[in-house]
Formats: sequence, structure tokens, C-alpha cells
Amino acid sequence: MYCTKKITDDLTWVGANDRRLAMFEGVYSVPYGVSYNSYLLRDEKNVLFDTVDKAVTQRFIANVKKTLDGQNLDYLVIQHMEPDHSASISAVLNMYPDVKVVCNHKTADMIKNFYDFNIDSRAHIVKEGDTLNTGRHTLHFVSAPMVHWPEVMVTYDSADKILFSADAFGCFGALNGTIFADEVDFQRDYMDEARRYYTNIVGKYGAQVQSLLNKAQALEINMICPLHGFVWRKEINKIVSKYDLWSSYKPEEQGVMIAYASVYGNTEMAAEILASSLRDRGVKTEMFDVSVTPYSEIVSAAFRWSHLVFASATYNAGIFVAMEELLNDLVSHNIQNRFAAIIENGSWAPTSGNLIAGKLSKCKNINILGERITVKSSIKEPQLKDIEGLAEVIAAGIRNSDNASPSNSNAMFKLPYGLFILTAKDGDKNNGCVINTTMQITAVPVKICVTVNKNNFTHDIIAKTGELNISVLSESAPFGIFERFGFKSGKDTDKFADTAYEMRAANGIRYIHDHANAVISAKVTGSHDHGTHTMFIAEVTETLMLSDKPSMTYQYYLDNVKPKPKAQKADKKGFICKICGYVYEGDNLPEDFICPLCKHGVQDFQMIKAAEKEVKV
Ligand code: FEO
Repeated sequence: MYCTKKITDDLTWVGANDRRLAMFEGVYSVPYGVSYNSYLLRDEKNVLFDTVDKAVTQRFIANVKKTLDGQNLDYLVIQHMEPDHSASISAVLNMYPDVKVVCNHKTADMIKNFYDFNIDSRAHIVKEGDTLNTGRHTLHFVSAPMVHWPEVMVTYDSADKILFSADAFGCFGALNGTIFADEVDFQRDYMDEARRYYTNIVGKYGAQVQSLLNKAQALEINMICPLHGFVWRKEINKIVSKYDLWSSYKPEEQGVMIAYASVYGNTEMAAEILASSLRDRGVKTEMFDVSVTPYSEIVSAAFRWSHLVFASATYNAGIFVAMEELLNDLVSHNIQNRFAAIIENGSWAPTSGNLIAGKLSKCKNINILGERITVKSSIKEPQLKDIEGLAEVIAAGIRNSDNASPSNSNAMFKLPYGLFILTAKDGDKNNGCVINTTMQITAVPVKICVTVNKNNFTHDIIAKTGELNISVLSESAPFGIFERFGFKSGKDTDKFADTAYEMRAANGIRYIHDHANAVISAKVTGSHDHGTHTMFIAEVTETLMLSDKPSMTYQYYLDNVKPKPKAQKADKKGFICKICGYVYEGDNLPEDFICPLCKHGVQDFQMIKAAEKEVKV
């Protein structure tokens, strides 16, 4: 018998669930099961994306046969060779001996290592950027090495804007009759399993995931079809933004994970007292006994929280074995960018603290907070103040971080900024974006710094060509200029279409001659990576004066140019974007919400007070 799920008119899920598997990859418990996803695209040429684990081959083959309904299978795309997706390739080849196996060279080599069937006669080798037309659909192949193995590629169907994402965006848990993430309460019921899946399976390869996310940003994606878990067709940013955090090793939440290893309960008591002190200070905590909780859950929690506390007994003059294993696991999963604190216990020669610190020193950017607590067998009354002290240090760090967080960033708006259109060109492609961060840094030679968000297409052009123009906007600039250059992406629109901005500086790059009072051309001489932004250092090559009108400051823009938000009905509930005035209606603003107009995040929204007639932003 078969059991399939329709995804679009042309696309069907032909995978299967496994709820009997005890340990995924032999390491990770899967108490809620796991799905092995395979997708069948019906077109003039029929295409199957990946296969399934050997445990569910029979059901998978029945699903494929039913969906093909007597037609032939033309292509089998192999995106990932791990046997949970490749073990049923030979069953497909037996059934459809003429099928072409679409894969890259690495995959073909791996097939020879894993299996005995002849791949050379069947292989249709593709590489990054190659396409395959199947009739209505065109498949674009994108390499994604080390997400999770070196041969991994993902596939983009440009007809229906579907990304077949291999292991990326997957999740533990069987599908339970559903297929789409929006059919379940994903945040409540599955986000922890998605995090546990990501951090344990792919967590080590954050840089490679970031590279895939950058490639995906250039695509318009309506749907994501991963190899495990749910298909995403709504609120895709919910999972993409989590992947962005996890793969850049940024904590999701301010709070403390306390992992303890205790032989007779005395180290546990120290951990309990610390947790209690932290809670008294309003700090969120999550505790794990490392002898009881599987490492995969603790690794996942470490990726979630900003602060990590490790409390361990000394055992055989070393770290207690379960804690040592956990630390090894955290190091190998590349955990970084966290604050940590250590509690050690030892009845005659406590050594675990130094050894834990040594393990953590292998991780990038782990900052040890406070004084280490050393317990000699059990906590005694005088030591309570030491634990209180550690709790206060951690809580103060979290309070400061909250104060510096975007939700309390009004102070940053007090810095004076100008407003500029930054333009660049790559061949025939002209582009520009709005920036507020440029300034002169030296007089001889005349150098400026220009800071640009990496998401801007203009950023990529400047990184490639090293040349730029800055048009200094004057107070006469209308809101339309900001809409044109600030609220759209040059990746999918021509920002200069239907404009009269034809003037070019000597470097050939266009500039904004109306509503700008000066133009500065410059050549990049260096750059600094600042995470979300790049600061380009550039030497000025030409300057043009266009008018004597005053330059527009950000404050002038807020007071005089940006449209005032419409009066809100007294009973309307929601949140308003302080940048562009967009109103999100509802009681709760999702934490990963992105303004559809100006692309700013929740930190730039404020709640509409029901009694207010007009919201001032
Ligand atoms: Fe589900 Fe990396 O395989």
C-alpha cells in the first residue's frame, strides 16, 4: 500500500516515517521518530529527489510507483549521499533501469564507495549553476558542501520557486499525517527538535550554512522541501532566521544553561543554589544532569542560551566522565560566542575546574565570568555568598546585554546621522541603496569610511568592483527616493528604471543629481568585516558640488520627510514599525517578524497603545 502527500499539483511527497528507530546515526535518540523525505516531480520528464533509509524502502517504492501511475521515471536527483537518503537508490534503479542519476562528481565517487551498482553509465553529472529542464520546470543546482557532507547540493525549481534543501531546514520528528510546518504548532511542538537536529547534525559547519543562506538570499523562495521534517510554505523566515542565528553561533535567548555532573548530589546542590539565585534575579535558567540527559539535548540548549555554567565533580583526578564527554561534544560542535562560569568539586584535590577551563579554551570567544566556585565535598554556609556573587555577575551581564539590546536602543538614535545614496555598478548593472554611515576619516589622502549591510546588493558590487559614489541627500529629497533606493532589493529590481538619474561621475558610476548637494567618488583601499555589515575604507577620487541646500540629517528625515503614520483606531491592537510606519495587527508580534516594507526586525517595532489616537514614531 502507499501513503503520499500532495505538495503542489506537480509535486508529491513519497517519503516515509520511522518511529522504531532508537538512535539516529547511531547517536541521537529520536523519541518522536523521524521522517525520510523524498519528492517526486511530475512533468514532461519525471524527477525523483533523493531516496530514503533502508528501513522504509518498501513503502517508499510503493509511493513512487503509485505517484508515477505507470509512467517512467526519467531522473533521480541525488543531493546527499548519507545512507538515510541514498540506501534505496538501488531499489529505484531496479524498478526503473533507464533512469538517469543526476549528481555531482563527488556524489558519483561516493556511490562507488557505498554501493555496487554501475553509476558511470547512468550518471548525469552536474555542477554549481547547471540547470535541467523537465518541461514546465527548470531545476538549478547549487552546491552546499558540508551542509552536512562534502557532496551536498541543493536544487531550486525556478518555475514554482521551490528549494529542495537537502539536510538544511530539517527537523527530527515523524510527520504524523501532516506535511506542512504551518499545519502544526511548530514553535511549541517542534522548534526544540529542529534546534536539536540542526545543532547536532550540522552545528559544526556554521560557516558553510551561512554560505548557503547567502546563496538562498538571492533566490525568491516560496517553499522549502528538506530531507527530514516539514515542508515550509508559509512564514519561511521563521526557520531561516533560526538557521541564521544557529549557524552564526549567536544565542537565541539571554539566559543560563546549567549542566552539572554530580556523584552524590553535592555538586548538584551547588548548581541548584546558583539556579535559584539567578531566578531570584529574574534570569531564565535551564538545568541538566549530564549523567541523565542525552548530550544532544544539552548541546542544543547550549546553542540556545547566552550563558553556560558547568559544574562538575573531580573524578579520577579529571573531569567527571559524563561532563568530559559533554564538553568534548560541545567543542566538536564548534560552540562559541558564549559567557561561561565554572563550579568544581573535589574532596581532596579538586582539578575539574582547570580541566573544564582548558576544554573551553578550545572554543572561540568563550568568556569565563566571575570567580570559579570550588566546593570541597559539599557547600557550606560561608560559600553561599560566593554563589550569590557569581549569580549577580551573570545577572548583571544579562541586564547589561538587555539594556544594550535593540529593544532599548533609543540612545543609538541620538547619534547624528546624514543620509546618502550609495551607488555602484558592475558591468551594465547599476544599483544603489540608502545608507546613513559614511564619514571622512583622513585629509591627506582624503579617505572616507562607508558602512553597508551585507544584505544590500550594492554591498556585493562594491566588494567586487572596489568603486563607489556617494550622493549626499539634501533636505529637498522626497520620500520617493527612500522608497526607491531603500525599500527594495536591487537583486530583483532595477532601481534606476524610469528615472532621470543618468549622470555619471568620472568612474562611470551613476549618481543622484536631484535632491543631492554633493557627490563623492571613491576607490576602496580596505575593508573590515563587522558581521552584518562591512566597513569599506576608500580613497576619494572625485568630488562634485551640486547645490548649497543643507544636507539631510536622519532627524530631519524623521521630522519632515517620512510620512506620518495614520491615526489608529482606538480599539486597534498591534505594533508599528518605527522606521517606515508599517502596522502589524495582533496581540503578539512574532519574535522573528521582519517588516515587509523596510525589512527591519522586531527591535524597531513598538506596541500601539489602544487608547492612543495617533502613534508617534
Ligand atoms: Fe539525513 Fe545528512 O542526512
